[in-house]
Amino acid sequence: MGGIPAEKKSRDVTMFCGKGGVGKTTSAAATALNRAAAGRKTLVVSTDFTPSLRDIFEVNSSDKPARVTDNLYLDEISYGDVKAQWEKKFGPQMYDVFSTFVDIDYGEFTSFVATILPGIRDEFMVDYIRELSESGRFESIVWDTAPAGQTLGLLRMPSLMNHHLKPAARIYSSLKATPNMKRSVLGVIREWQELSDRDMEFLRSRVEFSIVTIAEALAVRQLDDLFSEFNGYGLTMDRLIVNQVVEKADSSFLETKARMQQGYLAELKGRYGLNSCILPLLPYEVKGIERIREVERRLFGQIDQQAG
Ligand SMILES: Nc1ncnc2c1ncn2[C@@H]1O[C@H](COP(=O)(O)OP(=O)(O)O)[C@@H](O)[C@H]1O
Ligand SMILES: [Mg+2]
Repeated sequence: MGGIPAEKKSRDVTMFCGKGGVGKTTSAAATALNRAAAGRKTLVVSTDFTPSLRDIFEVNSSDKPARVTDNLYLDEISYGDVKAQWEKKFGPQMYDVFSTFVDIDYGEFTSFVATILPGIRDEFMVDYIRELSESGRFESIVWDTAPAGQTLGLLRMPSLMNHHLKPAARIYSSLKATPNMKRSVLGVIREWQELSDRDMEFLRSRVEFSIVTIAEALAVRQLDDLFSEFNGYGLTMDRLIVNQVVEKADSSFLETKARMQQGYLAELKGRYGLNSCILPLLPYEVKGIERIREVERRLFGQIDQQAG
């Protein structure tokens, strides 16, 4: 693949997004196998709180990360992991400030913050992956996400946080508080803004986006929203995968389904062009390394053909 611009080569994270059940985890798993087979130390990681990576790779180990095969590791980020990341960065500082107003113990305080600000969770997922990427522990990170709603939350959060934190600084600096307390509140706000900026910059410069869809009305319609939201943040869609396409219609049932899909496929091709990659509807679920490899061959065989 000689055609990738130099700027893209530094993008070591590939994020998979799309509607529920379209094949994000399957595509992420196949991509991770491909990277690992090419000799890159790869982590496939999920931020879906109801993850399925261990299940489809048939990995029983609860190691974090767990080894799958040569060069390939997997991890599933839980709510607890994300909360711990937030606590590590802001917990004690914010508690210091907060506990001067309110009599509350530390554990209660952190659960309280986590429930009133669900956005914290999304922001810190991005932050978690950013830290992983910057740690250099893996040459390639394949990021499997929860359905589109969460993905948009993930993308929105860093810039939204920044937006909300601006007036916060003004409000807090006019607070009737001791200069010391003001300084620590403003310090937290400033650090948080810096974190949001870093996370947004990470999404723009280090992450490659793959969108997975199926050839059906609702999925195709949701793509438009996803694309315009991406554009709004200055993010680009790198690859579109259309999954579960009927290839061999050897029954009237499949013929009907294939006809329906052809209409949407034509629409997708017209709108999104060449990057799309078609995966066939298989007669079985994709579970276990051998089956994932079949998907990998389809996904990456096609790219090689397109490039050559
Ligand atoms: N091309 C395909 N043909 C048949 N089954 C598929 C195909 N792609 C995915 N599946 C199955 O569909 C289900 C949902 O796929 P999954 O990758 O978990 O979707 P998502 O992560 O988007 O929710 C899984 O059981 C998977 O094995
Ligand atoms: Mg999934």
